[in-house]
Amino acid sequence: MTVSMTHVVEEPKSPKDRKAVLEINNLKVYYATPTGNVRAVDNVSFKVYQGEIVGLVGESGCGKTTTAMAILRLVQPPGRIVGGEILLDGINLATLHGQGLRDVRWNRLALIPQGAMNSLNPVMRISKQIGDAIETHEGRQSGRQLKERILSLLTTVGLPSRVYNMYPHELSGGMKQRACIAMAIALNPSLIIADEPTSALDVVVQRVVGETLLDVKERLGVSMIIIGHDMGLMAQLVDRLAVMYAGRMVEISPVETVFEEPLHPYTQLLIESIPSIKERKPLKLTEGITHDLRNPPPGCIFQLRCPHVHEKCLAVDPPLLEVRPNHHVACHLYYE
Ligand SMILES: Nc1ncnc2c1ncn2[C@@H]1O[C@H](COP(=O)(O)OP(=O)(O)OP(=O)(O)O)[C@@H](O)[C@H]1O
Ligand SMILES: [Mg+2]
Repeated sequence: MTVSMTHVVEEPKSPKDRKAVLEINNLKVYYATPTGNVRAVDNVSFKVYQGEIVGLVGESGCGKTTTAMAILRLVQPPGRIVGGEILLDGINLATLHGQGLRDVRWNRLALIPQGAMNSLNPVMRISKQIGDAIETHEGRQSGRQLKERILSLLTTVGLPSRVYNMYPHELSGGMKQRACIAMAIALNPSLIIADEPTSALDVVVQRVVGETLLDVKERLGVSMIIIGHDMGLMAQLVDRLAVMYAGRMVEISPVETVFEEPLHPYTQLLIESIPSIKERKPLKLTEGITHDLRNPPPGCIFQLRCPHVHEKCLAVDPPLLEVRPNHHVACHLYYE
């Protein structure tokens, strides 16, 4: 299992040739509780390059939504960003305040929140909701131009023009989700963060919404972070996959590489647990428990569940290192 760091493999297409739209360095977000700080995001670093989709996966409670909220500076008390940098087009969002933060947040970043389709205003037509979003940030627009822009946004997300005059309750779940995507792209952001954009939709509609996101990326060249649990959808949608475990980033690599050869033992379990109809086998459940996020053990955070745990893992926290070209992993099995 041990692979030397000098291992030579064919160089995959490098995302590094592109500009990093987002660069996160050593981000820490803690929730203060009476019994101590919950280290929801602990020393997380990663980049999102121009025009790529990064998928963020990991079990429930590992810190995906907290990471997204930190990027938007929307972490609510008792949560707090306690360290790190969030560079969007070179500007550190972690230290911005007031109007400067508001400008960046809405003009360069867009969020499709967890359960977005339920956040549409039920008594407002879709056209008004999208139009208000545009006018709030760009000021008053001429009626005809605004209408044309909204209709063009609806076309971009594959919705018919009749949706313009409809209310949310007249739309199916998938249509509502696509209306939320239209709102997210309305202000031409550099980065869209979509938190579980397809959960609570049936599989066919999930694929349609996935295709819509892919299409938006192709047409607008926008970068995205898509948070999700569905590994099948991730395989279809994302360029790189980032795997979190207990507040840490444990692996990040081009998606095809992760599926062919996952390196971190947690990612291996995650991929082995994808059910297959061709080869039915009992679902592989990870044994052991996740440690208390208020009190991480010394050494590796996956030690309680790892089938390969050895002495070093109990003492030394493995850093996230590039052990193959474009393939980063935080595991002692891969460095000498
Ligand atoms: N207000 C809070 N107070 C204390 N702990 C919190 C609070 N909000 C979140 N947490 C903790 O922070 C951790 C990360 O939560 P987060 O919502 O980011 O997880 P997630 O990966 O998005 O999970 P899911 O897949 O279920 O959406 C969890 O362990 C959670 O219990
Ligand atoms: Mg979440």
